[in-house]
Amino acid sequence: MKKAIYPGSFDPITKGHLDIIRRGSKSFDKVIVAVLINSEKQGLFSIEERVSLIRKATFGIDNVEIISFDGLLVDYMEKNHISIILKGLRNSKDFEYELQMANVNKILGNEIETIFMISNPENSYISSSMVKEVCKLGGNISGLVPSEVESIIKKKIMG
Ligand code: COA
Repeated sequence: MKKAIYPGSFDPITKGHLDIIRRGSKSFDKVIVAVLINSEKQGLFSIEERVSLIRKATFGIDNVEIISFDGLLVDYMEKNHISIILKGLRNSKDFEYELQMANVNKILGNEIETIFMISNPENSYISSSMVKEVCKLGGNISGLVPSEVESIIKKKIMG
């Protein structure tokens, strides 16, 4: 079975993330969306909330699993017999950063491959922080986040 892990903070999931998950689910037998538990970066949404938002947004995609992890990504992967990391690339800035991460993971792990999918142009400017900022300032986030979770995100940010 060809499994890929799609790691990130997902604070919160955006349309860009969902696009990569959807496309990944067509290329792999299973996509494991992995939410990083980062004790140094609190974030706005709790880990449970992030997992729940991803679960709602990916409802109906049968070969997607959502987990959370702490520690090294490659350790989680080795323990769970996963060798492919799936990542989205939005622009050249992402590329510089992702190249470094892919190389470090290759050195840290055993036979780890990182596979990149180019983000759709309409998602190339979206980020989780941008969603939070636009929403906090009263802007419309419907083009930025999956419709299934838009109201939950708004409620959390606007109160
Ligand atoms: N569409 C839209 N937005 C995207 C996106 C896409 N396809 N891909 C990334 N983003 C955005 C995110 O929304 C986030 O935005 P923000 O900075 O505004 O919050 C930003 O890009 C960064 O993404 P993030 O989800 O935080 O992931 P990351 O690329 O920083 O990587 C891990 C995080 C989890 C993959 C990485 O830190 C990790 O593996 N940590 C575990 C510890 C470890 O193993 N370290 C060694 C690895 S080298």
